[in-house]
Amino acid sequence: MTEVVTAENPLLEGLRMRKPPEPFALSIFGASGDLTQRKLLPALYALALRRLLPERFGIVGVSRTEMSTEEFRERMRQAVVEHGRDEFRTDVWEALAESLSYVAADFGMEGGEEPLIACLDELDETRGTAGNRVYYLAVPPKAFAPIVTALGRRRSAKGWTRLIVEKPFGHDLTSARELNDLVHAYFQEDEIFRIDHYLGKETVQNMLVLRFANGIFEPIWNRQFVDHVQITVAESLGIESRAGFYEEAGAIRDVVQNHLLQLVALTAMEPPIDFEAEAVRNEKVKVLRALHTPGAKHVVRGQYGPGFIEGEEVVGYREEAGVTADSQTETYVAAKIWVDNWRWADTPFYIRTGKRLPRRETTIAIQFKRAPHPPFAVDSEGGLRPNVLLIHIQPDEGVSLAVGAKVPGQGLSIRTVHMDFLYGGAFRLGLPEAYERLILDCLNGDATLFTRADEVEEQWALVDAMVAPWRRDRPHFPNHAAGTWGPHAADELLHRDGRSWRRH
Ligand SMILES: NC(=O)c1ccc[n+]([C@@H]2O[C@H](COP(=O)([O-])OP(=O)(O)OC[C@H]3O[C@@H](n4cnc5c(N)ncnc54)[C@H](OP(=O)(O)O)[C@@H]3O)[C@@H](O)[C@H]2O)c1
Repeated sequence: MTEVVTAENPLLEGLRMRKPPEPFALSIFGASGDLTQRKLLPALYALALRRLLPERFGIVGVSRTEMSTEEFRERMRQAVVEHGRDEFRTDVWEALAESLSYVAADFGMEGGEEPLIACLDELDETRGTAGNRVYYLAVPPKAFAPIVTALGRRRSAKGWTRLIVEKPFGHDLTSARELNDLVHAYFQEDEIFRIDHYLGKETVQNMLVLRFANGIFEPIWNRQFVDHVQITVAESLGIESRAGFYEEAGAIRDVVQNHLLQLVALTAMEPPIDFEAEAVRNEKVKVLRALHTPGAKHVVRGQYGPGFIEGEEVVGYREEAGVTADSQTETYVAAKIWVDNWRWADTPFYIRTGKRLPRRETTIAIQFKRAPHPPFAVDSEGGLRPNVLLIHIQPDEGVSLAVGAKVPGQGLSIRTVHMDFLYGGAFRLGLPEAYERLILDCLNGDATLFTRADEVEEQWALVDAMVAPWRRDRPHFPNHAAGTWGPHAADELLHRDGRSWRRH
């Protein structure tokens, strides 16, 4: 095997401290697809560059498209050059490319798994992968069942087996349960890694550190001090070429069911007793179970019409390729939800997500209650604003605290200023992509940042309850222009409570 010499980078200490994973054979289903090219191979390259992969491993691309291993390697090389976050180093690539094979297989056919099984057995001999198997399902959900069944029936007699399942995990509670039943028929829960790539993002994990490694936040992280919470997952992009998927899913299944509810759970959860997978996920599930289903008047749906994004004219959702002219699919959702427990009773969580909003932004804003009695006259312009702890998840990852400060000069004029911590500034390193962290965690058998069966089912139960009333009405879509912050009704949702969405 080619030896890779990598420059020392002291800023990678955190990742280094972990022991390297055991030898493994990783099979990527959907190897001819977009996710493999844009995310998975670039992530594996980034891990190889940082010497975070073990000495002995093999990676097998699997899909139905006929291609040779040489062609696959060349495609993946181009993918790493185009989508990788690091400089392209030929020595690192060549070592990684040696581990790559490709198998054309159709698991929908009787015995379709045989070529892959033969290839994996050979890898055990030639690359010392010790019977350890990781199967990554980066295929459309309709392809899951035959693959899971065949892999389950042909488990390796040696080593361990892990299954990574991409989202969407079902399209409602019933289908998610069916899928859980299917995978549980062949795999133990601790062998199943359901991906929500948001959980692999540094700032999402940093929120747990912020809350539980600093003594100053936890005492005020509750209904006594917090007025409300706002969570925003905004995208400026439209649906790209995903009309087929999006028409079925809409914003609620694409983003609320997974990313947004996970962010709610992480914000609201109790301190886990340790940072092991079961302890963290137990606390998240308790939050999901405590979520009160919002009534119809606390849920707002939107769909964008034509408009402008950063000065560029863009078409409305109904004019996007593949979308029907009278589509009722929502591209925007806002809701007011409650976490019914002692910590959060009466503290609303306002959540919103949408496509073709003015800019890409994922933030969690913890808005604290106002100071009870300012002992000085405050100028009327803006007045004394409440403190807000703003967690930026993307882009510009960091944390900022809004505090009132005296404007220099005579008199007592107060203005809000921000104490900012920016990841890029403090650590001066490119943040790892979520997929790097998640693949490495799976190789190490650590499921903390993956979604457990009961979590997924709780998330679907809430979404099913939210969409149930939607069957009865036909909203007037489109109801906001692309490039604006959603429909008027979303502003009303907060105005009724004497609040407003955070200013942008
Ligand atoms: N792209 C992303 O950024 C992203 C993000 C989050 C989640 N995901 C999820 O990841 C999965 C793959 O997404 P993608 O964007 O890579 O899709 P894609 O570009 O359409 O690729 C789909 C892959 O699955 C294979 N495939 C399609 N139908 C199949 C079938 N019936 N049986 C076996 N293989 C089949 C295709 O290869 P062959 O036709 O050659 O078999 C192809 O390699 C989806 O579940 C998607 O929701 C994607």
